[in-house]
This record gives sequence, C-alpha cells and structure tokens, in this order.
Amino acid sequence: MSRVRYFLFDCVRTLAFSVLIALQASPGKSDENKNPGEPGRSIYNSGVPSRVGPCMTCHGLQGEGIEGTTFPKLAHLGAAYVANQLLAFRSKDRPDPAMQVITQGLTDSEITALADYISQLPPSSEIPKAQLSEKAIRGEDIAKNGLWDKGIPACFACHGPSGFGIGEIFPKITLQDKSYILQQLSDWKKDARKSDRMNLMRTIAGKLSTEEAEAVSAYLSAPSSQSQTYKTSVVKSFPDGEMGRIIRLGQEIFTHTQDNAKPYVGNDLQCVNCHLDRGRRPNSSPLGAAYGMYPAFRKKTNRVDTFQDRIAGCFQYSMNGKAPATDSEVMTALVTYSYWLAQGVPLGAKIEGQGYLSLPRPARKPSAVAGRLVFERSCSLCHGLDGQGQASEGKTVFPPLWGPRSFNWGAGMHKPDRAAGFIKANMPLGLANTLSNQEAWDVAVYMNSHERPPDPRSQDNVPNTKKDFHDSDACLYGTKVDGHVLGSQVTSSQ
Ligand code: HEC
Ligand code: HEC
Ligand code: HEC
Ligand code: HEC
Repeated sequence: MSRVRYFLFDCVRTLAFSVLIALQASPGKSDENKNPGEPGRSIYNSGVPSRVGPCMTCHGLQGEGIEGTTFPKLAHLGAAYVANQLLAFRSKDRPDPAMQVITQGLTDSEITALADYISQLPPSSEIPKAQLSEKAIRGEDIAKNGLWDKGIPACFACHGPSGFGIGEIFPKITLQDKSYILQQLSDWKKDARKSDRMNLMRTIAGKLSTEEAEAVSAYLSAPSSQSQTYKTSVVKSFPDGEMGRIIRLGQEIFTHTQDNAKPYVGNDLQCVNCHLDRGRRPNSSPLGAAYGMYPAFRKKTNRVDTFQDRIAGCFQYSMNGKAPATDSEVMTALVTYSYWLAQGVPLGAKIEGQGYLSLPRPARKPSAVAGRLVFERSCSLCHGLDGQGQASEGKTVFPPLWGPRSFNWGAGMHKPDRAAGFIKANMPLGLANTLSNQEAWDVAVYMNSHERPPDPRSQDNVPNTKKDFHDSDACLYGTKVDGHVLGSQVTSSQ
C-alpha cells in the first residue's frame, strides 16, 4: 500500500469522525425506547440520547451502507460477527476512530441487541451481469483460485462460493464497497485490525501486493454473474480446440467433483479438497508430478496400476464412491488434465513435492487426547467442533473430516502418517507449516480416531479386515476408542 493511499484513507476516517461528532452532539429525537421488544432497532435508528448517535446515518436505514465510501453494508452479517466487530472497535483492536468512539458508549447488552437486529436486516445479493474490467478479471482469478505461489488460498475458500460468507465467523465480502475492502486489507497488512481469528486475514493480506489488493477489491465490489475467469484469464493458457475443452473439463471435475461427476461420488468431498490449488500444489499430491510415475507396482493392489487405476482408487476410497469406466469422459478428462499439468515434468522420476510430506515420527507417541486440543484450537473454526465441516449457498465449503460424509476406511488419508504429512504442509488453510510435527501427528491421530464409512474391501468382520488390509500399528482401524471398535459400525458424526 502506498503512502498516498494510507493518507487518503486517513482523510476519509477524519471525515467520518467529524460527521460523528456532529451526531453525538445532537442525539436522536426518540428519548424513550419505544419498542421494548426491539432495543436493537431503536438504537440503530435513533441512537441512545446524549451517548450514541444513530447507526443508520452512516450505514443506511436497511444496513445498505453508503456507496463510494468506507461506510460498509451491514445487512447480511451474522450476529456473532457483528458483536465481535463492535467489541473489537471498543477495545481498539479495530482502528476506525469514529467506530471506536461510538462503541465506547455502548454497553455489552446494547451490543448484543444491535448485533441481533443487524443480523435480521434483509440482505441484497443481486449480482449484476456486468462486464468486468481487466483489473477485476485478475481479481476474480484471485478470489476464485488464490495466489498459491505465495501460499494465498482462494478468497472464496473461506468466504463461500460467491463470497456470501460462511457461518458466523467468515463474513460476506462480495458487493461491499471497493474503498471499504481496500481499507480492511490495508489495516490487516499494517497489523492494525486484530479482530481476525487465528491471524487468518493478517497472514493473507500481509502477502498481497498493492496491485493484487486493488484487483481483488475491484472484483469483489462489482462482481459479475457471468463468470469470466474460466473463459478468460485462467483459461488463457489452455490449448485451443478439443484438447483445450477436455483439459478444462478435467479441471472442472477435479475442483467441482460434486457438480460434474456426482454418479461416482458417495460423500461430500471434491478431489481438490486433498489435492489443493487445482491439483498443482507441491506436497499436496500434485497431479503433474504423479502422472509420470505410472504405471507402477503398488503394495495396496499388489499389481502394476495404470494412472487410470490410481484415479479409480481415489474415487472408491477417498470419495467413497465408484470408479468411472476407463474410457468414460470423466476419466478421460481427468487423465488429460493431469497429462497437461505434467508437461515439461520428467517422466518416471520422483520430483520434489510429489505425493505428501513424510513426517518423521515425533518424540512423544502421537495421542488423540493431545490432538483434540490442537483440533479445537486450529481446525474447528472451519471444520466445526464436530468435524462435520460447513456449507454455504448449499455447497460444502469446509469439508467433513470424519463421519458418513467423509472419506472411508480404505482411503490413504485414514492413515495417521499420511494425514500428518498432508496436515503439516496444507492445514490450517492459509497457515501451512505452522504446526509442529508433534501437533500434526497428534491431530491426525485424533481425526482418525473417529468412525467413517466402511472399507469397501471389508471382509465379514473387523479383525479379518484388519488382518488383510490394516495390518500396521500406525493404523487405528480395529482399535478401541472410548469403548467403540473403529470400523465396526458406521455411525453419524462421532
Ligand atoms: C459516523 C459514521 C458511523 C456511524 C454513526 C456508525 N458507523 Fe459503523 N462504521 C463506520 C465506518 C466508517 C466503518 C468502517 C470502519 C473500518 O474501516 O474499519 C464502520 C464499521 C462498522 C462495522 C463493521 C462492519 C464489518 O463488516 O466488519 C459495524 C458492525 C458497525 N460499523 C456497526 C455500527 C453500529 C451498530 C452503529 C451504531 C451504534 C454504527 N456502526 C454507527 C461509520 C459509522
Ligand atoms: C483462510 C480463510 C480466509 C481466506 C482464504 C480469506 N479470508 Fe477474508 N476473512 C477471514 C476471516 C476469519 C474474516 C473475519 C475477520 C474478523 O472477524 O475480523 C475475514 C474477513 C474479511 C474481510 C472483512 C469483511 C468485513 O466486513 O469487514 C475482507 C474484506 C476479507 N476477509 C477479504 C478477503 C480477501 C480479499 C481474500 C482473498 C485474497 C480473503 N479474505 C481470503 C478468513 C479468510
Ligand atoms: C480425502 C482426501 C482425498 C481426496 C478427496 C482425493 N484424494 Fe487422491 N489421494 C489422496 C491420498 C492420501 C493419496 C496418496 C495415497 C497414498 O499414497 O496412499 C492420493 C493420491 C492420488 C493420486 C496419485 C498421486 C501420486 O503421486 O501417486 C492421484 C492421481 C489422485 N489421488 C487423484 C485424485 C482424484 C482424481 C480425486 C477425485 C476423484 C482424488 N484424488 C480425491 C487423497 C485424496
Ligand atoms: C481456515 C479454514 C480451515 C482451517 C482452520 C483448517 N482447515 Fe482443513 N480444510 C479447509 C478447506 C477449505 C479444505 C479444502 C481445501 C480445498 O478444497 O482447497 C480443507 C481440507 C482438509 C482436509 C482434506 C479433506 C477432508 O475432508 O479430509 C483435511 C484432512 C483437513 N483439512 C484437516 C485439517 C486439520 C487437521 C486442521 C487443523 C490443524 C485444519 N484442517 C484446519 C479449511 C480449513
């Protein structure tokens, strides 16, 4: 961010501050709370006499904000999010001087009442069919695909498929004014807004350049309902003709498996959930590095598997579904996409970043009890305390880690060593490589101490299946956790 920009922001803030002082001096007319059932509405519209000016002056009657200013839209924000932000202004963990003064005058119960009222304001979610500027097209790419060479996930990975927010923690960011979005990114970059859990936004905004922040703000403030990314910026590098079409289809199946290959999927996952950045990220088992390693002899199948066989395995186990036929369009598209990603990669050679990290065993024996604490602190914000993930706009965004909608007991991810390697290098999303090896192992063991769909290779009983397919002390299948033998029944989210 340039100095000029900071200066401009500060000017806007001073202006807001002056408006505020005028408001505080002449409090709203309604001196008594006329709607005792709706104290939030009353404060929002009329303020609290001689203490707090009305919110609607700056945020609009229906929380619609004021276009072209940093007075944000509030409709569509969840109650817990709003309450947290008001508390953050009050404790000066968010820097806006006007909001800091306003919130000094608010009691905890007034904050709760306002948050309740604001969360009920009718949201406007009309996405215009606008033509995107060159800058906004670049922004759309960042919002939807991230900037993985800097370790920045897609904005929509945490804010929902159209940026409409997820649950109470991840707010709606689409359709907010550009200057407001830019202001927030700048505040995080300066470490001035401290309200974000786990430092998620401070980490991300800290890595965005000024141009990238401007591009993504331009897109988020004026998105288009006609997705242009896939047709323009991202696809630019795809070859023309039939080959380009099939590669693009492969990428779509890989990233939106639920929409494009539903008959072969038996859970709520997508291929990209475990192979991040559209199957390109090193140490996230990238497709380009895998392609040249097949055909290969695999211990799991005791034979030479083709690349198609390998993909089929992930459908059966990781996706808890059934494999598409070798000559089906789904298989052809996935193979062609991988082939294309492998261009220039040496065949038959194990290259850096192929597969998942193999993490050395930690000093202390990995434990589910310790792992639970790691999970609650570093994972539950997104995957939920019950590990069942979260959805937005009817689509799973944070995938379930166990239970009937997750991968089954035959999947590679059920092995704690494999899971620990994946988690260390990729989770928490946006904060890769921040857990210690011990923490990654502990949380992998905790995750895999829960019930999940049966191993499709199941023999008649758990001990036989364990003997044939899970004969390793690292594997938790068939062991007893809280009196329950893992693998012995499919239960809902335990
Ligand atoms: C003088 C104008 C002004 C008034 C009056 C005002 N606000 Fe704000 N409000 C702002 C500005 C400017 C911001 C953006 C702050 C920033 O850039 O961090 C903001 C931000 C917010 C946010 C954060 C939104 C988000 O998406 O994170 C909330 C919540 C909020 N205000 C609630 C209120 C409530 C409730 C009231 C009334 C008690 C109120 N505001 C009164 C100017 C005002
Ligand atoms: C790893 C998860 C994650 C990713 C990825 C992410 N965000 Fe966020 N974002 C959050 C969280 C959590 C908050 C809420 C912060 C708070 O409570 O103050 C947030 C809040 C925001 C807000 C503030 C909204 C408001 O009303 O004040 C903006 C703007 C924002 N993010 C933009 C972005 C952009 C742009 C990207 C992509 C470059 C992005 N985010 C990617 C987690 C994420
Ligand atoms: C639950 C996580 C998960 C999901 C979802 C998933 N995979 Fe995998 N995938 C893995 C794991 C773990 C491995 C490595 C397995 C092993 O080494 O035992 C792997 C390996 C692969 C490989 C071989 C990589 C190599 O370097 O040898 C390919 C190709 C692959 N997956 C494709 C897919 C496709 C296509 C989909 C979607 C249909 C998919 N995966 C879904 C976890 C997953
Ligand atoms: C900020 C949100 C966030 C946090 C925090 C987070 N994850 Fe994830 N996780 C995701 C998202 C989003 C995906 C899917 C990635 C994709 O599709 O690009 C994912 C995927 C996964 C997967 C593979 C898919 C599946 O369902 O099995 C595992 C395993 C996982 N996370 C474990 C963890 C663990 C363990 C932690 C804590 C150490 C953690 N995650 C913290 C957002 C998060």
